[in-house]
This record gives sequence, C-alpha cells and structure tokens, in this order.
Amino acid sequence: MTKENLYYQHHVFCCNNERPADSPRGSCKAKGSEPLRNYMKARVKELGIASTRINVAGCLDRCELGCTMVIYPEGVWYSYATKADIEEIIERHLQKGEIVDRLLLTKDQKELRDEQKQGRPPATAVC
Ligand code: FES
Repeated sequence: MTKENLYYQHHVFCCNNERPADSPRGSCKAKGSEPLRNYMKARVKELGIASTRINVAGCLDRCELGCTMVIYPEGVWYSYATKADIEEIIERHLQKGEIVDRLLLTKDQKELRDEQKQGRPPATAVC
C-alpha cells in the first residue's frame, strides 16, 4: 500500500490512561496527557493540517516513559511533557516528516534519557 492510499497520512495515539496515585508505574494522565492531547488536536485543526487524526488511547504499556504517543504509519513513539514538545512534534514530524530525536522513544528504551528528563515539569503540571 502506498502512503497516498492511507485513510490518514498521520494517525496519532496519545495515551490518556490514569492509574491510582500510588502506582509505581505512574500514568500519562497524571503527567498531564489529557490537556496536552487536547492542545495537540486543537493546534492541528488550527494549522489546517489535513488527513491527520489525534486520538485518545488507553494505556500503551510504556507508562514509565510518559506522556507517551505513537504516530502511524511510521510507528514512531515520543515522550512529551509540555506544549513546546507538542509544537515541535507538529512542526517537525507532522509537517516536515522529520523525527524529533530528543523526544523519541526507541524500541528497547526502559527509562527516559537524561536529555528527556531535563526541564520536565512536576507530574501534575502542564506547561
Ligand atoms: S499510562 Fe500511558 S502508557 Fe501506560
């Protein structure tokens, strides 16, 4: 199948799962995923990015790395924490077809890299 035949050119799934506050794995919702996903959806619409869907997902089972999203058809995973992260994913990945390396989650990654931990707001804050 060619990319031109895809129903959506980009289909984004943002985890919005919530676990109890004392869960050792944490959860994306506790880290601010819901307003950030809503922000991404609104920005994609505002920017007129066609053939792109920003969906809410249940747990993607990479909770420790959240907030997590996966973008298809590429199958690229990101960890994000701020509106600035969302803006960069929209501009570089969705609009330019680039990978945002600093937010990228690799296949076997189990912990956030130091560069991904820097500047993260507290778990419940959204910037
Ligand atoms: S809570 Fe988001 S990946 Fe599990």
